[in-house]
Order: sequence, then C-alpha cells, then structure tokens
Amino acid sequence: MMIETGGSGRLWLLSGPGSSYALHLTERDELLHLHWGRRIALRDAEALAADPLPAERPFESVLDGHEEYPVEGGPRFVRPALSVRSRQVRGTEWCFEEYETAADPAAGHELRLHFHDSLHHLDLTLHYRMRPGCDVVERWTTATHVPNGHRDPLELLRADAATWTLPHRDGWRMSQLHGRWGAESRLVHGPLTPGERLIGSRRGHTGHQHLPWFALDAGDAGEEHGEVWTGALAWSGSWRIAVAALPDGRVQATGGAGHDDAGLVRLDPGDSYTSPVFAALWTGGGFGAASRAWHAYQLAHVVPGGQRLRPVLYNSREATGFDVGERQQRELARRAAAMGVELFVVDDGWFGDRAGERSGLGDWTPNQDRFPGGLKPLADEVHALGMQFGIWVEPEMVNPDSDLYRAHPDWVQHHPGRRSTEYRHQLVLNLARTDVREHLAERLDALLHSAPVDYLKWDFNRCFTDPGWPGERYPERLWTAHVEGLYELIDRLRAAHPGVAVESCSGGGGRVDLGILARTDQVWTSDNTDPLDRLRIQHGFSQLHPARVMAAWVTDSPSPMLNHRRSSLRFRFVSAMAGVLGIGVDLLDWSAEERAEAASWVALYKTVRPVVQHGDLYRLRPPGEGGDLSAVQYVLGADTVVLAWLPAQAFGAPVPPLRLRGLDRDASYRDVTTGVVQRGAVLAERGLRTTLAGDLDAAVFHLRRL
Ligand code: GLA
Repeated sequence: MMIETGGSGRLWLLSGPGSSYALHLTERDELLHLHWGRRIALRDAEALAADPLPAERPFESVLDGHEEYPVEGGPRFVRPALSVRSRQVRGTEWCFEEYETAADPAAGHELRLHFHDSLHHLDLTLHYRMRPGCDVVERWTTATHVPNGHRDPLELLRADAATWTLPHRDGWRMSQLHGRWGAESRLVHGPLTPGERLIGSRRGHTGHQHLPWFALDAGDAGEEHGEVWTGALAWSGSWRIAVAALPDGRVQATGGAGHDDAGLVRLDPGDSYTSPVFAALWTGGGFGAASRAWHAYQLAHVVPGGQRLRPVLYNSREATGFDVGERQQRELARRAAAMGVELFVVDDGWFGDRAGERSGLGDWTPNQDRFPGGLKPLADEVHALGMQFGIWVEPEMVNPDSDLYRAHPDWVQHHPGRRSTEYRHQLVLNLARTDVREHLAERLDALLHSAPVDYLKWDFNRCFTDPGWPGERYPERLWTAHVEGLYELIDRLRAAHPGVAVESCSGGGGRVDLGILARTDQVWTSDNTDPLDRLRIQHGFSQLHPARVMAAWVTDSPSPMLNHRRSSLRFRFVSAMAGVLGIGVDLLDWSAEERAEAASWVALYKTVRPVVQHGDLYRLRPPGEGGDLSAVQYVLGADTVVLAWLPAQAFGAPVPPLRLRGLDRDASYRDVTTGVVQRGAVLAERGLRTTLAGDLDAAVFHLRRL
C-alpha cells in the first residue's frame, strides 16, 4: 500500500497489492480521474495525465465522465455528487488549495485534497485511504462552512461520499443484491443500458430491498476470472447509489447518504458535514476474488474484533414467540448447554409490559411477572452452565402503550396535525435529539449493570414514515442525525461495556452495511430460516460480507415461519454451518435423540468453525432456481472445509464431483473424518466426490493438507 505524488504535485497514485488508482488536477483545478485497475507505475499515471481531454463541443461536456467528484454548476450534465444552495447562488466552483498525505502503518495511508469555493465560503476535502494489505480504496468527503463575518447558512442538498469512474469497455454488466423482508440479498446481474440505475433506500434504514453494494464488469468476468469493480457504502440510513452509463460509453457510480437531493444538512458558519465512507476495489480475479478481498478487508479493518471467533447461539424466538419466562428459559438453557451451545439469548418479551407487539417497547426493565428477580438470576445460571448470556433490545422504538411514550410523547418522529403510521404498533424515537440519546444511554447502561449481559441483539423493526421534528429549524437533518445518533449510542455503550457483543438486526437483514458492521459483531441475515431459501440469501450475502458476521439458525421442521418445508436436521445444520451457527428450535419439544444428533452437529461445527469464519471463501457452485447441487469451500492454512447441498436429484443423474479451488496441487489432503488421502491436483481437476442423493441432502467435508 502506498501513495505517490507526481506531476509537479498535482497527480496522485494510490496502490494496493494488486491494483492502482490515479487522479490529477488540471491547470484549471479540474480534478480528473486517470486510472482504476491493474497496478501501474507513477510514470504510467503521468503519461495518462499528459493525454489531453477531448475537444470542447457545445452539446457535450468534456468533464462529464472524467471528474473525480462532479459538482452541480458549470459545464457539467452528469448527476452531481455535490449540490449546495445558499442565498447568493446554487452550485459550486472550486479552487484547489493544497494536499496532504498521512501514513500510519496500522490505519493505512490517507490522501486529502482541499478545495475552496469563495462565493459559498465552503471548504471541501476529498479523502482517500488505503488500508494495509488491501486493494480497497476508501473515500469520503467533508464540507465546512468557513466563518466569514456573515450569518447566512448554507444548505447541502446532496453531498455524496464519492464518485467512482470506470475505464472504457465495450459494454457493462451490473450485479446487485436485492430483496425484501424474508428474502434479502439475492444476487442479480444485468446489462447496464444507457441511462442510470438507481439503488437505495428512502426508509431511514439500510433496507431489505438493496444492499448498498454494486459490482460492475464488462460482461466477461466469472467466479474466478476477469476484471470486477465493486463498491459498498458504509451507511445505515437512507442512501442512494446511482450508476450511470454515459452517452460516450463511460460509467460512473456516485453514492452517499440520503435518497433524494431534497436537503441533507444546513451548515451555519463554522459547521461541518462528514459523509459516510464509500469503499471500492478492483480485482482481476473475478467475483470470487472480489468477495475474498471484501471479506479480508472487513475482518481486518471494519468489524470490531474480527479475528475473534463467534460463539454458537441458542434463541427460542421461533419456538416460544413472546411467551418467555424465567422457568422456561432456565430449562431451555440447560438443554442448550448440554448440546454445546455457547451463547444463550432471550429474545423479545422479557421487558416492560411486553405480552405481544402492542406494548412495552421503550421500557427496558425486566418484566416483574416473568423475571421477578430481574435478569441476573437467569444470567447467572446461564453463566454457571458455561454459556454467555444475551438479550434482545430495540432501543430506537417505542409502543404508544408504554411508560416511555406516556412520559415523552414528543420524543418520537412526528408531524403535529398529521396522522402517525404505527407499523407493528410502534413509533420511531427521534435519536437526533440529545435528550433521547441521553435517556437511552442511561437506561441501557443501567440494564447492562443490572445483570451480566454479554450480547445484545439490537433490532429495528419499522421504517421511517413521519420524519417530523417540531421545533427544529432544519428538520430534514433528522434522516442523517438519527443514524449518527445511533452510531454514537452504540459506540458509547461499547466503550463503557467492552465485553458486550452486538448483533445488528432489522426484521432480519434490514440493516446490513459496512457502517453498522464497524460497530457490531455480527448481523441477523434474515427472518427467513428456511434452510433452502437461506442458501440463496447466503450466496448473495457472501458477495460482500464474510461468514464470520452472518448469523444462521437451525429452526424447526416443518419450517414454521414461511413455507412449511420439511427438511432433515442434517440439511438444516449444514445450511446454517455456512455462517455463525445458531439454534432456534423448541428444545422443550425435542426428543433426547434429536438433541443428541444436534449436539454432534454442534461439535462438528466447532471443529470447522475457524475455517468457515476466517477462511478464504470459494463458491464452487451457486444455488440455482432448480434442484442443482450447490457448494462452498473455505480454506484456512492447511485446512479446507466443503459444505455441499443437493436440493433435489433429477433423472437419477449422479451428482457431479466438486472441483476444489485454492489448494496446493502438489500436496496431499487427508479427509479428517474418513482418513482417505487425495492429491491436491486430483481434487482440483477431477474433483471431490460426494455421495449426495435424493432430496434435500447435504454434507460436510473437512480436508487437511499433509
Ligand atoms: C424481528 C427480528 C426477529 C425477532 C423479532 C422480535 O422481527 O428480526 O428475529 O427478534 O423482531 O419481535
């Protein structure tokens, strides 16, 4: 990783292990993109900078498709990354001031480019950072309204984190992860036709509908070959990424917080806005290499304690619903501990007057009838059984039927005189307000002191619909300030309780992004725990995020939540073993045989867990729409783990062998269970034979290099 400066101090080349990113400033202070792709040398970048821009033509802008950060104003017709309004003028025109570079062996190298707009008195800094050992370029923007003797505010209608410029290719294909509740992160590809493709959320949270991620290739990349450009936004509120195929065939992707350009923040003189980070990387090794690079980056530089293993969890949510109580939870805990579970979680229903969805949210004290002595007696017993103890919370919400709402009806987002939407009988607290955050910090802190809690499942179960903030001068800022408030609250709690892990949940996978992952330990992937649907959800999820953060549960069969599918314990376990294993079944209802079988799966998971959670992922065969075999492989040091699933065998056809990847061809590998030894080259060429057959069959293979 390094940042080089050339072109008389007006050209910068950022390089990671396999890629380079170059930009330069023209004499007119236009900041132009030069290169993003395979590694080049500084003199190559200087040669690229010597290429003149095409000649001016009245109906085209020579800047369009070339600028690092297109702003509104002047000869530009592309979607602006920055749109500023003040009393005097809309649009910006900037002058370059200076650049700085900073190098820190642990945090990485950073380049800052400073610009100034004298009419707006606006300072703008573009930040670029490369982390050690990574090809990820992190970009973000800060805008500061410089004190100038006047009191007029500025309005940032839009201030994207970054615009990414791709090189010329004959055509482009875009991959994205779309979905809805119960069906998150499904991968689709399609040609990028002229115009713009918009993905985003106008819901106040990241949303189930799109992960803030894109991948672009020239239509010729595969799982293990070809050039891929991919980006992901680190933001957990409303967002937008616009991918534009411009008339001259160039492609740019611009993105940041906020879905519309209707107003992000108001800056009084002296105020600043910092955008979220938009990270992106190039690889020449196909979608597989892109995912592995994303996973390594997150585990090393994003997820707190990414190198630590996550425990096997038990949660009775699907089995008991809201009907939780101390005696029943104690009994469940004993059975869970006997199966090898390491973290016991009490889900929704332990607090306030929470008999169902209609009441209690906001009152974060244990329900007196259900937990007469508070949570401590249960937590102590769970600890005595050798497990960690966790609870569910939804701090950003309140039921109108709660003590908190009765005391502070003004603390929720609302427009006086308008109807409020009570999705799931709940309202959204305005976390942009300091008093609301103070209250929550104090309450949660007291809760964590009242019982030895090791883990919080932090949920968020409805979208913003009434984003009003009576009394606030600029209520539009609620959209970003809520998310900043949420981040501040989690950061504060983590600092005060460093031993407490946090899982991000939002009705399943409604809040999965690099912003929340920078302060949580794992995410709840989906409320859909059907083991077959999960294969496709997990396939999409794995494009960006590692198994180490992907919570996956074994639940009862027939699948109670969605489709009543019947499947074997084997199939359910092998499906959930592709992530952070959890168990969500009704253990009170299970026979001793079922519990013994589950215990052996948990024991097997623990032997392969380091490889699954921290290994390099190879997607050997994607899960299809039909009945075909699918498989993933993880490689960590000498160990290789393969998980394979056969939904339905068709026409009596034998199941094909799995050609393994990432192995040492000249080495031999022993199957840890059977002792059979095979050559690396044979496993790569002919492949690993499975004995899968019939419907919903699955298997785990653990090979070790000799
Ligand atoms: C959300 C979560 C579930 C569960 C319920 C509790 O739907 O995604 O896992 O915690 O809330 O009400």
